[in-house]
Amino acid sequence: MSTVANVRIHASQFPAAAREDLLRSLRTRQVNHKFHYDSLKQTQKWLALHQAYSPSRADEDCIAIYERSFEAAVDGIKTPAVHLVGLGCGGGQKDTRLLRRLGERDKKITYTPSDVSVAMVLVARAAALSAIEARDCHPLVCDLAAADDLANFLGEYPEPAAARLVTFFGMIPNFEPQMILPRLAGLLRAGDFLLFSANLAPGIDYAAGVRQILPLYDNRLTRDWLMTFLVDLGVEVSDGELRFGIEDDPAGSGLKRVAAHFHFARSRRVEVDTEAFEFRAGESVRLFFSYRHTPEKVRALLEPHGLSVLQQWIAKSEEEGVFLCQARRR
Ligand SMILES: C[S@@+](CC[C@H](N)C(=O)[O-])C[C@H]1O[C@@H](n2cnc3c(N)ncnc32)[C@H](O)[C@@H]1O
Repeated sequence: MSTVANVRIHASQFPAAAREDLLRSLRTRQVNHKFHYDSLKQTQKWLALHQAYSPSRADEDCIAIYERSFEAAVDGIKTPAVHLVGLGCGGGQKDTRLLRRLGERDKKITYTPSDVSVAMVLVARAAALSAIEARDCHPLVCDLAAADDLANFLGEYPEPAAARLVTFFGMIPNFEPQMILPRLAGLLRAGDFLLFSANLAPGIDYAAGVRQILPLYDNRLTRDWLMTFLVDLGVEVSDGELRFGIEDDPAGSGLKRVAAHFHFARSRRVEVDTEAFEFRAGESVRLFFSYRHTPEKVRALLEPHGLSVLQQWIAKSEEEGVFLCQARRR
């Protein structure tokens, strides 16, 4: 096997763009989620956390709903060639399972694992190589929130007759829906398939469901992973307290999200190049949020963007759902 991987890097993740995004995060006291996956250390911490807590790794029933969704997606693809695009692929475990199923049907596969983190796409590529040849894997580093020419870029890859299947697993919780959904829809051509997963609020009472899952976030591995961003900038864990709570979507969608804020108990000065940031006692920085949906809310969010839900699979815990969608002509 070659000891070299070709990874394409979109300008949205060039150092100058990333630096601007970092400064904006510090100025606004709202951390762009991409900075939690930036370094090798953060990637490893997140992968460990995901391994320990994600129902898609630990809950047999949740694993099964993904498998059923993969089966249905593969059944829906009638062309001999397929281009699988993993948006925010992370470690690529789910995409690799999907690649294996496509391989079982003798599809000619091209795979684009895409993520904001170079380390993640390399981990995803390594996983994918158990199912496809290296020449068919084209890792792409890009910031989905900033790259507005991605549709052209994805069109360059395979033969025109290939079906396109896009995965968007575990991504919707960490983006403002009104920002990310037009981007996602803009990437899809009419007829493209989308496999989309969301974290759900269990039960019939939405607010109570969100309260029920709150402890899933407030644990040592998640705290350690989220604090890495601040600690690497020179903040000490003892400078304040990381608190988790539930808030309404500020855009007024009616959605709720779990948010983590670091509250400074003493002042701390942080310098990035020539710019200094003074965090005073009593101030807070939002490190993270995660929206919780219901199946009905997912359908209502996707529909106005020309994305029809063809089938859905909900885990028995009602904490996670997978949705097979298709882009309509608009
Ligand atoms: C919750 S993980 C989901 C990973 C994977 N899809 C899964 O289900 O296991 C979120 C992923 O999105 C990536 N990510 C975060 N912000 C991003 C952005 N702005 N553009 C592209 N990827 C991003 C992270 O690096 C991380 O791998």
